[in-house]
Amino acid sequence: METDQILDYQAILAPTDSFHESLESFFADSNAKGCNVTMPFKEQAAQWVDELSPAAKIAGAVNTIMRKGDGTFWGDTTDGYGLTMDLVQHGIQLEGKRILLIGAGGAARGVIIPIMERNPSALVIANRTEQKALTLASLVKENWVSGCTFEELDQLDAFDLIINSTSASLSNVLPSVSEEVISQAEAVYDMVYLPEPTIFMQHAYDLGVKKTIDGLGMLVGQAAKSFSIWRGVEPNCKPVLEQLRKAL
Ligand code: ATR
Repeated sequence: METDQILDYQAILAPTDSFHESLESFFADSNAKGCNVTMPFKEQAAQWVDELSPAAKIAGAVNTIMRKGDGTFWGDTTDGYGLTMDLVQHGIQLEGKRILLIGAGGAARGVIIPIMERNPSALVIANRTEQKALTLASLVKENWVSGCTFEELDQLDAFDLIINSTSASLSNVLPSVSEEVISQAEAVYDMVYLPEPTIFMQHAYDLGVKKTIDGLGMLVGQAAKSFSIWRGVEPNCKPVLEQLRKAL
């Protein structure tokens, strides 16, 4: 990535029972500007930082920590920015659109705020277990964000974009959203990625959906957003994405 930045970025394996100590020893080096955090530590990271971004507050999880000028620590979750950046790269605008988010687990929680920041006209969270969808929708307190079951989707207006936040495709399983709902979308996005189009993408394509996208661009986009939080420069994602795609 041609950003002319010199940095040392390495994986550190933290013991599961002493993550906070690992963070403290990492940041004891005054050159340490920030770090990424991955599973299973994202919730603990959210507790450790002094301040959370709005997206990280709703997610209850942090994947990016930055040391601020005053020495305090700020936590964000960049997955949702990765998602919205990738959608824009694919020519999909969210403004004024009706968006269906399938799933209400951690992956869904992490993307809600960046999706909302793009001003869609409606965001419906549909989940197999209804209560989780209702709880998640209620966290954001906007009347154009709602939760429901998969069955209830059949009674609603068509969606422009459907985002699958479940990992069901990794088990080659489709969430039981009706074919009618899927077929009316202009685009579907599956947050996971595989060497071949996922079962959800293939299903949508077979039903006539024109754009079907996997989550590899989201993976690259979330890393790029973390980089720009620490360094103030936006790296070019395209060559990274091409290399990763080849390596799948
Ligand atoms: P993650 O953190 O990756 O989002 P999670 O918190 O375990 O994982 O959440 C998984 C989400 O995928 C949930 O919304 C789950 O639905 P339930 O709340 O009803 O369990 C959803 N999910 C997983 N497998 C699914 C399947 N086969 N069909 C529909 N939804 C599925």
